[in-house]
Amino acid sequence: MCGIIGYTGSDPAVPILLDGLKKLEYRGYDSAGIAVQTADGLHMVKATGKVEKLAEKLEQATDMEGICGIGHTRWATHGSPSDVNAHPHMSADGRFAIVHNGIIENYLEIKTELEEKGIVFASETDTEVIVQLLAYYYEGDVRKSLMRTIRRLEGSYALAVLCADEPGTVFAARMSSPLIIGVGAGENFFASDITALIRHTKDVIDLDDGETAEIRTDSVRIFDPYGNPVSREPRHILWDIAAAEKGGYDHFMMKEIMEQPQALQATLEPRIKDGRIVLDSVDLDMKQFDRIMITACGSAYHAGCVGRLVLETLCRLPVETELASEFRYRDLVLNERTLVIVVSQSGETADTIAALRKAKEDGAATLAIVNVVGSTIAKIADHVIYTWAGPEIAVATTKGYVTQLAVLDLFAVWAADQLGRLDHKTYSQLVKGLKALPAKAQRALDLSARVGRLAKLYHDRKSLFFIGRNLDHAVAMEGSLKLKEISYLHSEAYAAGELKHGTIALIEPGRLVVALCCCERLYEKTASNIQQVKARGATVLAVAPESNHQIYGEADHVLRVPGVHPLFFPVVEIIPLQLLAYWVARENGCDIDKPKNLAKSVTVE
Ligand code: AGP
Repeated sequence: MCGIIGYTGSDPAVPILLDGLKKLEYRGYDSAGIAVQTADGLHMVKATGKVEKLAEKLEQATDMEGICGIGHTRWATHGSPSDVNAHPHMSADGRFAIVHNGIIENYLEIKTELEEKGIVFASETDTEVIVQLLAYYYEGDVRKSLMRTIRRLEGSYALAVLCADEPGTVFAARMSSPLIIGVGAGENFFASDITALIRHTKDVIDLDDGETAEIRTDSVRIFDPYGNPVSREPRHILWDIAAAEKGGYDHFMMKEIMEQPQALQATLEPRIKDGRIVLDSVDLDMKQFDRIMITACGSAYHAGCVGRLVLETLCRLPVETELASEFRYRDLVLNERTLVIVVSQSGETADTIAALRKAKEDGAATLAIVNVVGSTIAKIADHVIYTWAGPEIAVATTKGYVTQLAVLDLFAVWAADQLGRLDHKTYSQLVKGLKALPAKAQRALDLSARVGRLAKLYHDRKSLFFIGRNLDHAVAMEGSLKLKEISYLHSEAYAAGELKHGTIALIEPGRLVVALCCCERLYEKTASNIQQVKARGATVLAVAPESNHQIYGEADHVLRVPGVHPLFFPVVEIIPLQLLAYWVARENGCDIDKPKNLAKSVTVE
């Protein structure tokens, strides 16, 4: 949601900023804009719609030749997507231009105050109060004015500021919204995330909450919330530029589906040494907990639902899941004997951050499973286990989700071992099962062509059901979400046994039901649910282990996944469902990587 890019150096800023905005498109947006410093002050161009529209407008512009500038992709929150509401925003006197990610909760109060002083606002945005405040407080020192301004703000912001009086300098500030500074040679950058910078530099400095920065061509100065200088060395990013490119695939989503074996390998291998699970980043004594709570949003929540079942089976502790968007509104009983696990690919999801903060306030121990190094969630949580999925660009998560499963599985085995719940043989079987997952995922990918053919048969169905029991049900939820978000088909995931309690009324001739049958101990039960829907005319597409031959007598189509340890089936079982969503969306001509109305990282409540 919203993306920021900035540059100061000796090259023309506009092409660099435009390229950065294109890289940030995946975050979700509905308008875009760029501002540059030129010899005669600040100039900006903004456009509603795609970055290409902005590029067209910029081609016509004659006053955008600067070597220092800021750019933004906006996902509308306050005011409709329009040119005037798009960022950058400029102060009424034209001295300041800013771009902002986040939400200013007290903007109406500040707006009223400034309007009473005669300042005229141009847009309906919350952001504009920031730039008008900057100009109002300005007495010749931008940093002082910035410090005064941010002290007034309640909410979240990643902020970049240009001032006409400070050529070659960009000022930045951050509170609960990501902003990283890219360190180059004779040029510096900043952006919401690394994908926009990686073409230029792999050395980045994270800005922390409450900090401000002054970024010039040859220096980066950081200040704490009291204005004291902070010294911070850049960290080196290991991602390759190829990781942020499509690499010959038509869509990032397909590339990321195909990358899953490598992502699993990168996540699992370093944590399995000599047949033992080693979690260096986790210094927890599991015996201090009498309960585990997992919270997250969307697919990360679905990963948590799988994790719950695996953890309770192995650890024999009560494990609960709650949507992060509901977490803080419950009267949860949390204390130091509760371990709260938050799961997030981006590490920036607003609801998950709020849940994590609430868990900490209530005294629970917190563990984050996160993909993006240095993200807000990674910084706040007591313990972090990174998923090493690499950058995920497609809005629909695939490799992010399976690596979350892998970490939850690793953690469950590690925790159960700490609790003394596993004998030597069981432990070895589990570790062996985990090690086998990358190769098994690779084999599951062979289903792609077959799923593509099935998608041709079923892409025009208006509504589908995904059914399964236990782990299969948790995977059904993710399969259904994948299909909804990229193909826009209605689908529902149901615990197979629940169908007869109401939903079976919706089963009619021709209805496609995807039946997940990897939970072998419950196969007979799911098979009877398949018979119930078939009896009412449904067409059944089953996903089942290769060893299950009975299924051919029940389902119309069968997608066979390689056998794995019974607790780890979700890792391979989700793959045909990701492929189904992809191929159906492709048949239907959908914008697969950037589905409508969705943002990669949901940074508002
Ligand atoms: C997944 O395909 C979705 N785009 C979405 O549900 C996502 O999983 C959710 O917003 C959570 O994101 P996070 O993992 O970055 O916290």
